Amino acid sequence: MSILSGKNILLGVTAGIAAYKSASLVREFIKAGATVKVVMTPASKDFVTPLTLSTLSKNPVESHFYEKDNDNELWNNHVELGLWADYFVIAPATANTMSKMANGVCDNLLLATYLSAKCPVYIAPAMDLDMYKHQSTTNTFAKLNSFGNTIIPATSGELASGLVGQGRMAEPEDIVGFITADILSQLPLKGQKVLITAGPTYEAIDPVRFIGNHSSGKMGFELAKAAANLGAEVILITGPTNLKLSHSLITVIHVVSAEEMYKASHKEFQYVNIAIAAAAVADYRPKEIALNKIKKKESTLTLKLEKTKDILASLGKIKKHQFLVGFALETNNEIENAKSKLKRKNLDLIVLNSLKDKGAGFKSATNKVTLIDKLDNIQEFPLKSKTEVAKDIINEIIVRNA
Ligand code: CTP
Repeated sequence: MSILSGKNILLGVTAGIAAYKSASLVREFIKAGATVKVVMTPASKDFVTPLTLSTLSKNPVESHFYEKDNDNELWNNHVELGLWADYFVIAPATANTMSKMANGVCDNLLLATYLSAKCPVYIAPAMDLDMYKHQSTTNTFAKLNSFGNTIIPATSGELASGLVGQGRMAEPEDIVGFITADILSQLPLKGQKVLITAGPTYEAIDPVRFIGNHSSGKMGFELAKAAANLGAEVILITGPTNLKLSHSLITVIHVVSAEEMYKASHKEFQYVNIAIAAAAVADYRPKEIALNKIKKKESTLTLKLEKTKDILASLGKIKKHQFLVGFALETNNEIENAKSKLKRKNLDLIVLNSLKDKGAGFKSATNKVTLIDKLDNIQEFPLKSKTEVAKDIINEIIVRNA
């Protein structure tokens, strides 16, 4: 999954020959999972048709302050368009449009939208080499940079004029790559590695039977997504679950038993900055695994169980720089039990679930948590979706680990 997945991208197209590439750019954004709307300057329609861009973006293209719909005149709301966008990408951007942007001119819908947009703005210029080199253009770039806009440099090559030099608009896939890298570089967990354990573990009794639990893995998977969406490289070690995940920053390691999860976690722990144990690890496992399927002979069957290794506690023993987070599922004396678990396992933060709370726990899509840190700060959160709970937990880790 790309960092642009689920984002709203407003593409501004101006009147340069490179406008023909904006069709590919729309497709690249859609491929990355973004929703795209296009706003064009009136003159750009000579280079690429609104029909092409509306078909590819699956949204109407806007280029005038108002449209005629039979006898009605409908106002195109540039403020709403600007607010809708998570990112405003102007590609190609002509010298004329950039100069107007730098000077607050707003004589078309694209420029009015630019002035009202509050989101990050990326500009991919396209022009002839002498125009690109002109002092006026250099001044324009400096002014747009000072507004916080980001220029995606034009590349060198053969230009529409037949001359060769810098001025070609960056290729659509390079524009998407540039924007993705730029967004990632600004995320708070960029450069951080996060280890997350998730799901249940299955402890074999014989070749066909196991001791397991009802953990769906959802909380751990949501934590992985929340961390990756903030730029972290995530190692997700999960027991058996039906959940699927595809994200360029998440590596999923599948394990079955507590012992396998222990080994995988220890292999990765030294390389990570943050570790979160969200797995519902079996506390006991059969002392011996029958080699063959156990036959039903007696009226009762006794299994001898032995303790599994406590992965979290073992990581707490060896931790150096790592910020370590555990979960506690309690039924009574919740705060006190969670606090003592935090100390016993040498954690930095513990996420407390109380079984007394409705909507919290294993199979539900929601959770209600209380966070306790090692300085005894206690924060109670309301019932939320596990997606939102995961974001809260990751944000609290960032605040404490900054
Ligand atoms: N944990 C672990 N390895 C285990 C058991 C638990 O890593 N073998 C982790 C879980 O992922 C969770 C925390 O430890 O983060 C839960 O601690 P645990 O002591 O198992 O608490 P509870 O499950 O709440 O059970 P109990 O109160 O019986 O200790």
